[in-house]
Amino acid sequence: KKVLFSGMQATGNLTLGNYLGALKNWVSLSDEYECFYSVVDLHSITVRQDAAVLRKRARALLTLYIAAGLDPEKNCIYYQSHVSGHAELSWILNCFTYMGELNRMTQFKDKAAKHADNINAGLFTYPVLMAADILLYQADVVPVGIDQMQHLELTRDIAQRFNNIYGDVFTIPEAYIGKTGAKVMSLQEPSKKMSKSDENPNASIYLTDDADTIMRKCKRAVTDSEAQILYRDEQPGVKNLLNIYCACTGKTPDEAVREFDGKGYGELKPAVGEAVVSVLRPIQERIAELEKDKAYIDSVIKNNAEKANYYAMKTLRKVQRKVGFPDRI
Ligand code: TYM
Repeated sequence: KKVLFSGMQATGNLTLGNYLGALKNWVSLSDEYECFYSVVDLHSITVRQDAAVLRKRARALLTLYIAAGLDPEKNCIYYQSHVSGHAELSWILNCFTYMGELNRMTQFKDKAAKHADNINAGLFTYPVLMAADILLYQADVVPVGIDQMQHLELTRDIAQRFNNIYGDVFTIPEAYIGKTGAKVMSLQEPSKKMSKSDENPNASIYLTDDADTIMRKCKRAVTDSEAQILYRDEQPGVKNLLNIYCACTGKTPDEAVREFDGKGYGELKPAVGEAVVSVLRPIQERIAELEKDKAYIDSVIKNNAEKANYYAMKTLRKVQRKVGFPDRI
């Protein structure tokens, strides 16, 4: 079986973008691949966190993975910090990554601008840790939203560079980008991606929003004065709503445009809201159920960390040998 790796940060309130751009595809791919889904808590501390809050959010995120439909018996769902190989491989890969490459990362530039008081070295080398995550499991495919593409290209470059020196050590991973939902935009400024750090609560649908809140946010979504429902760049607000609608219903943009032919935004918006509610409500219900079973979640955490560690160590030992670290006696 081919290997799939992906991860998500337990920082902030997860949005519909995280679900449609990533988690939803994880679930649909999970039968086809040997899957590793990590709660990437090492990445989270590149921005200052409250310890108790981070711990709570990490557990909530792991629970969400299961609630969204990933079976923890078949998929390895674990905390990145429970597998020390991530940090160890990351150090080695740091020595095969150029400052110039990291300087070009747009996400670093954005985050550095936003957290000007804390531009730490971890924030700068964040993409190298991400490369380590992926390469540690010899992943063939990495399902992500479009905003992670640049990091994935860098991962491929680092892997290729390492392989050129030491032979075929790493599998070169491919990104998997969904057809709809790969870039969910803000409901208030459709030129911007929907982001968990947006200050305007109406801009994002959070995975924890109840049905009324989702309906209200969709009805208030910014559109335009064209008064026609077409899937095109000239109407970014409408295009975003159609994308959300399609990603939630499985319909294609053509089908959706036909469905709303001759109708107005007053019909489109509530239809989008209902589609979102029908996707999120069952997940929210399963989270509530799972949260009651502490022992079950604990066993998932323990068993899967062991499994991840086993695979991670196989790659790490090989890499350590290649770069010239002495054998363990
Ligand atoms: P993170 O936590 O910011 O986001 C998690 C996933 O959600 C996707 N995403 C979106 N997709 C569509 N529309 C949006 N508006 C939107 N916002 C977020 C992201 O593309 C991502 O797939 N660096 C990563 C986490 C990570 C990782 C990895 C991912 C660490 N190591 C290894 C893959 C493989 C991140 O910060 O994602």
